[in-house]
Amino acid sequence: MAEETTRPIPSQPLLVRVQQLLGTHLREMEAAYDRELEARHRYVAEVLEHLTFYRGKRLRPILLLLAAQACGRIDPGHHTLAAVVEMIHTATLVHDDVLDDATTRRHVATVNARWSNETSVLLGAYLFTHAFHLTSSLGDVQACRMIGRATNLVCAGEMMQVGEKGNLDLTEDQYLDIIEGKTAELTAVSCELGALFAGSTPAVCEAMDRYGRSIGMAFQIADDLLDVLGNEDQTGKTLGSDLRKQKLTLPIIHLLANCPPEDAQTLRAKLAQPDDTTVAFIRPLLARCGSVEYARTRAVEYVVAARQQLSLLPESPARSLLEDIADFTMKRSA
Ligand code: IPE
Ligand code: IPE
Ligand code: MG
Ligand code: MG
Repeated sequence: MAEETTRPIPSQPLLVRVQQLLGTHLREMEAAYDRELEARHRYVAEVLEHLTFYRGKRLRPILLLLAAQACGRIDPGHHTLAAVVEMIHTATLVHDDVLDDATTRRHVATVNARWSNETSVLLGAYLFTHAFHLTSSLGDVQACRMIGRATNLVCAGEMMQVGEKGNLDLTEDQYLDIIEGKTAELTAVSCELGALFAGSTPAVCEAMDRYGRSIGMAFQIADDLLDVLGNEDQTGKTLGSDLRKQKLTLPIIHLLANCPPEDAQTLRAKLAQPDDTTVAFIRPLLARCGSVEYARTRAVEYVVAARQQLSLLPESPARSLLEDIADFTMKRSA
């Protein structure tokens, strides 16, 4: 399995460089992940096997391990925690694909498309509980508390988003609150745990939390742009679901406030009752009204804020990769 799991993703040269630097540490992380998820029952094993094709960029474990390395050292506990954050992330994606009625993820069928929503709900729960069980194997109360708290906030973020579906008056602050929960909490805790378990001072741990939080924000804003402008072959996942599911994102919030009066009524109608014409109507408007530019600018602000946090760390190859990952969150096409 190790060969398959650590196969570099050709379209992501930066992540390949990271994999080269972290090498065996990523393999240790994959081994901890697979060990935790061994299953004896046939159906559970079959669904779990699907996850072996279902491999993403491993961004959160990479962040945790790079943060650890940049703060001084990678210990065995980091491998376990890196597996934990990827398991939590995968659980949220399995559930998110039910919420979004998505059929493709990481270039393969989603669990809900291949099996059912029932299986997805249970697989997500299975991944969450295994992540907590795996964290507890470290015997460290603080790690359990941090992982538990971050997961609470991720789930609250997804719930807030569901609660605001169809609200065309969602404000930018409400949107930022949602994405801080659903995405930035997990990247923040990944970086903070990397620093903490490398024996860093509270000031460095806090800076790493802020770094991870800022890149999480930039990452989700970029993802929300991809949802309306991206290409499914490149991203390997179902796109357009934010509009279909009436989840307002930053470019759309900007558009609602800035679109010319003659288009405003049609825009609101298309958002209130999305159909096959909605994306085609919105794409040119987003460009014309500066909404794409606006969202990109906001995301770049988070990237700049993230990079500033790294100044507390000594220069090293790991720190320089953390800087490049901050830029990558905006440049990615997948
Ligand atoms: C997707 O995250 C969900 C978001 C937070 C936007 P990734 O883009 O990191 O997903 P994988 O793990 O590479 O599939
Ligand atoms: C990300 O939201 C889900 C979580 C962070 C839990 P999205 O719905 O935008 O993610 P994708 O685009 O499906 O990967
Ligand atoms: Mg989704
Ligand atoms: Mg998305």
